[in-house]
Amino acid sequence: MAESTITARISVSSNPEQSWEFPVLHGSEGPDAIDVTKLYKTTGMFTHDPGFLSTSSCESRITFIDGEKGILRHRGYSIEDLAEHSDYLEVCYLLLYGELPDAKEKAWFVKEITYHTLVHEQLEFMFRGFPRRSHPMAILVGAVASLSAFYHDSLDIHDEKERDLAAKRMIAKMPTLTAMAYKYSIGQPFVFPQNALDFSSNFLNMMFSVPAEPYKVNPVMARAIDKLLILHADHEQNASTSTVRLASSSGANPFACLGAGISCLWGPAHGGANQAVIEMLREIEHVDRIPEFITRAKDKDDPFRLMGFGHRVYKNYDPRARVIKKYCDEVLEEIGDQEDNQLLKIAKELEKIALNDDYFVQRKLFPNVDFYSGIIYEAMGIPTALFTPMFALARTVGWVAQWKEMMEDPELRIGRPRQLYTGYPARDYVPIDKR
Ligand code: CMC
Repeated sequence: MAESTITARISVSSNPEQSWEFPVLHGSEGPDAIDVTKLYKTTGMFTHDPGFLSTSSCESRITFIDGEKGILRHRGYSIEDLAEHSDYLEVCYLLLYGELPDAKEKAWFVKEITYHTLVHEQLEFMFRGFPRRSHPMAILVGAVASLSAFYHDSLDIHDEKERDLAAKRMIAKMPTLTAMAYKYSIGQPFVFPQNALDFSSNFLNMMFSVPAEPYKVNPVMARAIDKLLILHADHEQNASTSTVRLASSSGANPFACLGAGISCLWGPAHGGANQAVIEMLREIEHVDRIPEFITRAKDKDDPFRLMGFGHRVYKNYDPRARVIKKYCDEVLEEIGDQEDNQLLKIAKELEKIALNDDYFVQRKLFPNVDFYSGIIYEAMGIPTALFTPMFALARTVGWVAQWKEMMEDPELRIGRPRQLYTGYPARDYVPIDKR
């Protein structure tokens, strides 16, 4: 439990004589929080905070962000260190269990995840029910939630072992389901997981191999995928994670709640931004047209926003974007595309212009994680519609770790926000012939 050593005094201007005191909670880092859980009972008032701009919804030990300084840490380790030295499954272990694994624990975890990469054969028929042109996110929402229909031995949320099994299943099966969504959309046969391969190579193999000829995974591509997965693994209480937490707070099963998280991620203000960035760069088409788009982004009468720019928490360069930019150069060099990559040229120039423009400077709008990721995905041959599923694949561990943490919290209660009602007061029913 977070500690409290001081209190905050609240009074209302209509009655300055009366005031109430509330505990101020201190986390291990970051701003303090006023504990208002007893506010309604004590004062008869709610707090009002649409979009949760100033509201902490839970205590968590998993991820720390300092948005002003551009810092992101998982369990105390910086994202830069993890991206440089770790691999995705090691980061998954860290997020789930709180510590980096030793060699024996790592081997155990890799084996456990690998064991669950296959999906139930019957799921194939579910895929076949979708039109081929379906967005893969639409398929994933359904396929992931439907896992609850197949894996009855991991649905008891009150049983620690079943929770752990569900967590591993979700992490293990997401690459398989994502690759299946892709294969289905292009009319190629599904490729079974190859458990001799590492996590990222296995994913690339399921995406790009065909039964007709041998396929060798390019290690530079596998490494880049692994880094991208690490960079997207968790981001504390973002919209999709909060969705998973809220859905799970009712006691719903984790597979269904993950489906809810995937739905939330799909939106262009969240994970859908990676697809929107590439579409925007394609629409810009040439560096000469950048000023036109910058003007549109600043125009309050135009709904257009610079996709991949801005963040609710980061008021500095998103540390994930910095790392991705570096790998972007590495991947494009490997495939010999760095010089001619028009989209990268436009992206770099766009970033330069925006970072020197008063509108973006004053509002502290910097490139976020989605700004460069699509360029790498595109260079690897991953289709645009699959960018957001890639985000979902990576974020699965974050959702699962946050869900596990919440289920282990003795103070768990159903999430139920209140509202400021602004509709009609009570009025008499009017019969239809009198309206
Ligand atoms: N282009 C132009 N103006 C912007 C942008 C942008 N991308 N982002 C924010 N602003 C302006 C906004 O109009 C507002 O201006 P004013 O104060 O004059 O009204 C100001 O900056 C503050 O923006 P906000 O909408 O109040 O900020 P928010 O915290 O509610 O929204 C955001 C954050 C990420 C939704 C928003 O910055 C955005 O829409 N960015 C583009 C979409 C995007 O890249 N999303 C990915 C986010 S990172 C990955 C993830 O979360 O999945």
